[in-house]
Amino acid sequence: MHIRQPIVAVLGHVDSGKTSLLDKIRGTGVQAREAGGITQHIGASFLPTETLKKVCGPLFAKMGGENQEIPGLLVIDTPGHEIFTNLRARGGSAADIAILVIDVNRGFQPQTNESLKILQSRKVPFVIALNKVDMVSGWKKNPPTKFITQSVKEQDSFVQTALDELLYNVVGTLSVLGYNSEAFYRVKDFLKEVAIVPVSARSGEGMPELLAVLVGLTQQYMQKKLDQTEKQTRGIVLEVKEEIGLGMTANIILIDGTLKKSDFILVAKRDSVIVTKPKAILLPKPLDEMRDPRDKFRPVNEVVAAAGIKIASPDLEGALPGSPVYATTDESKIEEFKKLIESE
Ligand code: GTP
Ligand code: MG
Ligand code: NA
Repeated sequence: MHIRQPIVAVLGHVDSGKTSLLDKIRGTGVQAREAGGITQHIGASFLPTETLKKVCGPLFAKMGGENQEIPGLLVIDTPGHEIFTNLRARGGSAADIAILVIDVNRGFQPQTNESLKILQSRKVPFVIALNKVDMVSGWKKNPPTKFITQSVKEQDSFVQTALDELLYNVVGTLSVLGYNSEAFYRVKDFLKEVAIVPVSARSGEGMPELLAVLVGLTQQYMQKKLDQTEKQTRGIVLEVKEEIGLGMTANIILIDGTLKKSDFILVAKRDSVIVTKPKAILLPKPLDEMRDPRDKFRPVNEVVAAAGIKIASPDLEGALPGSPVYATTDESKIEEFKKLIESE
């Protein structure tokens, strides 16, 4: 058994704090560099185990982290603005699990609903990050090292009541939509109830618990899906663009298997299928957001899933964002994969 990184999509209404949450975990400042503070592209970054360990602190050992098998997480950041439905759907398609981010003071909003539908249609399990708890009126900030459960207990009673009301608004809406949900510290069965984790991307409160719940779920229930034994190499195209010095490139989420530079790669174009051998496979550094990298991508001869990668090849002209990707060393399999792509 070889378990790959779970792919985690972050979805939610515009400005609920998706990018900020990831910035807090990565120690990056991607959100601050976005035009108008609005995410307009779909991104991915790799969170190594050491990062999870650092963010989770003592919770890491508690969740069996020391003998955990998942080698970190691959997180996909999506835009919340209403015009980017296709990018949200692409993120949802690649995901094993998702974080649905909700602004605690605003509750369910139009793209919260839309994101939920995407997850529903693809049967992606999710946890809810009830973000911006620091904005609940009267909230006293605590350091992220303090458990959020403890931090809630130390708030004035009117603040605790307010938070509970806001949380149960979300529970109520979810129940109308057919989901049982609860604050994560009251969840009895994580398979039957959606866990809601109060967090603040600003103060960092609740972030250890959010990651712990996420990692716990993937480790307990997704081993089989994540096992890479005899998995066909496949992925999904996030974006296709021409880049200086590289020519035509595609940002791809490699979902399963190993992609080699010598492989035939197949992706859809409008009315046919592209078969190409990549000129280069490029891998971003851990913690680097691939849509806004701080460091140069590293050229590699092969890459193992899960990963966000860039491939360069002149043949990628016209490749369709959102297209499935298959790769094989075996030339005789090309026709089979062509048919598979044409049928999707
Ligand atoms: P889109 O990608 O454009 O949909 O937005 P987003 O969901 O990624 O939200 P973003 O990270 O851009 O945050 C939106 C605004 O909310 C920014 O001004 C953040 O600084 C602010 N913000 C995010 N999280 C928190 C939080 O926990 N507390 C407070 N006070 N502000 C937050
Ligand atoms: Mg964003
Ligand atoms: Na934003």
